[in-house]
Amino acid sequence: MSDSAAKERDRFLAGLAGLFSVSVSDLRGIIVGFHEDMAHGLAGERSSLQMIPSFVGRPTGREKGRFLALDLGGTNCRVLEVELDGRGGASIAAASRFVIPQDCMHDEGERLFDFLAGCIDSFIREHARRERRRERVLAFTFSFPVEQHSVSSGTLIGWTKAFTASGVEGEDVAALLSGAMKRRGLGSVRIAALTNDTVGTLVAGCYADRSCDMGVILGTGTNACYFENTARIGKFPGPFRSVEMIVNMEWGNFDRLKANRYDAMLDAASPNPGRQQLEKMVSGMYLGEIARLIIREMMERRLLFEEGYHPTFSAPYAFTTEHLSLLAGGCDEVFADLGLANLPDEDQAAMLEIGRLVALRSACVAGAAIAAVITWMEPGLEADHAVAIDGALFEKYPGYRHNMQAVMIELLGDRAGRIALVPARDGSGIGAAVVAAVAAKTSRRIA
Ligand code: BGC
Repeated sequence: MSDSAAKERDRFLAGLAGLFSVSVSDLRGIIVGFHEDMAHGLAGERSSLQMIPSFVGRPTGREKGRFLALDLGGTNCRVLEVELDGRGGASIAAASRFVIPQDCMHDEGERLFDFLAGCIDSFIREHARRERRRERVLAFTFSFPVEQHSVSSGTLIGWTKAFTASGVEGEDVAALLSGAMKRRGLGSVRIAALTNDTVGTLVAGCYADRSCDMGVILGTGTNACYFENTARIGKFPGPFRSVEMIVNMEWGNFDRLKANRYDAMLDAASPNPGRQQLEKMVSGMYLGEIARLIIREMMERRLLFEEGYHPTFSAPYAFTTEHLSLLAGGCDEVFADLGLANLPDEDQAAMLEIGRLVALRSACVAGAAIAAVITWMEPGLEADHAVAIDGALFEKYPGYRHNMQAVMIELLGDRAGRIALVPARDGSGIGAAVVAAVAAKTSRRIA
């Protein structure tokens, strides 16, 4: 690369750093924006935060039993058998993972639900053959925005992430699954809980540790929930048996962030333009794609890859957050896997810098969003708060958690030490089972 081209590349990267930087005043603005939108959402007013009442209160830790759990949220679905020991302990007795075929994600919804019923059927056949006839209680974790009507029913507000299946938005997803299970001869399986993955993660965190009051997902998608005083949920007509209820914030839709031209390009080409602004800047489904858009532009401007055009960077979503994460962890084989063996050092450094900027902005926004929710719950920050967090971004991306914590210290000073970020792997299935245990008991009492 000539000297002048190298200078132009440096200028480009410096400009990029500006486009992706989040200043302290931006971070404080996120907190203010969150508090405003949380208040509007809870009151039932127009807001980018839907603040959905979950009909789920605080578990006691004494919930007990064996439950089936179905978890749908990304490109895989999982069926689990969860055992709760009634003393805050939970174990997964059996688990199967199924890859969701593309047509089920994008064609008629009935296909998706028939596929899910098939997964439950093969799980029962494999793991619980002898008990096939008895009534089974199922906890359904459905990781999309759902307006809950009760703890076990609710309508899909709109698909997020890569899903677009038709005929599901506006419908009760628990009823769609029940119908598919009946068609499959699984009429004896009863859905006792329909929960968002954040709610399951928080309930599982709280089942084991009562100081846990917030659940967060930082994976393919992103979202959070927390315990709210039921009296503060103005739009919830009640009654509710408990003074606290978990509110599913759907924070992925928060829309008061400073977007740049790559964010705009990504949004315009997405299946849900104009929605999920925060999710598109933060979550694992999108970070690789933002990086790809930058790399493509640099490639077109001859600022990267002197030998020519690399097809990986022309195909949407072909470059992933996992690639970025591996590169950040020093795994150089990724270059060869991408068809970029023998890439000059400066090109490698430029790609690493792009990944660093994109992931750093994500961690800054996520850290500020957590600070916003905790200070909403307790402005003085005098108590300890544990935040149960699941998702590969938090768990695996090198430096991500450290950057989130650094932002929280920047915003809250020493009081940030009150907030523990606790990894909560696979919590959502366990938490959904706890919710099912409470619901199954309550419905027996009512009957
Ligand atoms: C969905 C949320 C979900 C999150 C994490 C988002 O796209 O809207 O409901 O909790 O992904 O899976």
